[in-house]
Amino acid sequence: MKKIALFTMVMVFAFVLAACGSEKTESDGKETGGSAADKKTVRVVTDAAYAPFESMKGDEVVGFDVDFTNAVAKEAGYEAKIEHVGWDPLFVEVKDKRADLGMSAITINDERKQTYHFSVPYFLSTNKILVPEGSDIKSAADLKGKTVAVQNATTGAEAVEKLFGKNNKDMKKFENTNLAIMELKSGGADAVVADNTVIEEYAKNNPKDKLVVIEDSNAFESEFYGLMFPKDSKIKADFDEAIKKIIENGTYAEIYKKWFKVDPDLDKLKE
Ligand code: ARG
Repeated sequence: MKKIALFTMVMVFAFVLAACGSEKTESDGKETGGSAADKKTVRVVTDAAYAPFESMKGDEVVGFDVDFTNAVAKEAGYEAKIEHVGWDPLFVEVKDKRADLGMSAITINDERKQTYHFSVPYFLSTNKILVPEGSDIKSAADLKGKTVAVQNATTGAEAVEKLFGKNNKDMKKFENTNLAIMELKSGGADAVVADNTVIEEYAKNNPKDKLVVIEDSNAFESEFYGLMFPKDSKIKADFDEAIKKIIENGTYAEIYKKWFKVDPDLDKLKE
């Protein structure tokens, strides 16, 4: 009698186990569009010192890029796991395929295209100059002989190098843009060159610092941000489709409005 009961219990247990196993394989593929648990996770790396695109809030990365990338990943049937690793490391991690993509207000340019694959463009940007109120710097040419703080290996750093030479001793390079702005505030630099949205938001949100933003469209070109993938990425095509989709269906505009309080000019995204 006891033996039969034990046998039954073992059988029931085995049956339950088998059922669990088969259910898992059935719901695995992304076509089933099941719960978040069975979506394919992608590892996204970023430099979260670049508000309003990406910044740390406690131990969470928040910003326009975060909402955008999450929406794109969801549309494409993936789940994004976003991790702050810093600017220089993020390029290495994507190149070595330790990450599936980089998300960091990254400008699409020819040099980077040699090593990486970019998504379709999702944001229009240009470099501008952040200076203290009353500064005599009124254009990019006025930066000559001044100490300019930039984030290392950004298009802002490149633009200043293009104007005044690579070994310009008056340029101070920092690991992130917040450090460059701190250098300006402490008087160690006369100006910061960085993406317009970042320094415009900074000046607006920190009125006590008395900083103003100078535009010089002759010196600084228009740039587009893209998500950055390893060269032979298998997910890039899915992400491109998803970006187009969320631009069409209004999700992009919703996210844009949440962060920038105005409607996006979607025509500007067409290269
Ligand atoms: N758009 C510029 C570039 O690609 C600066 C981006 C910096 N992004 C950041 N998260 N720190 O070079």
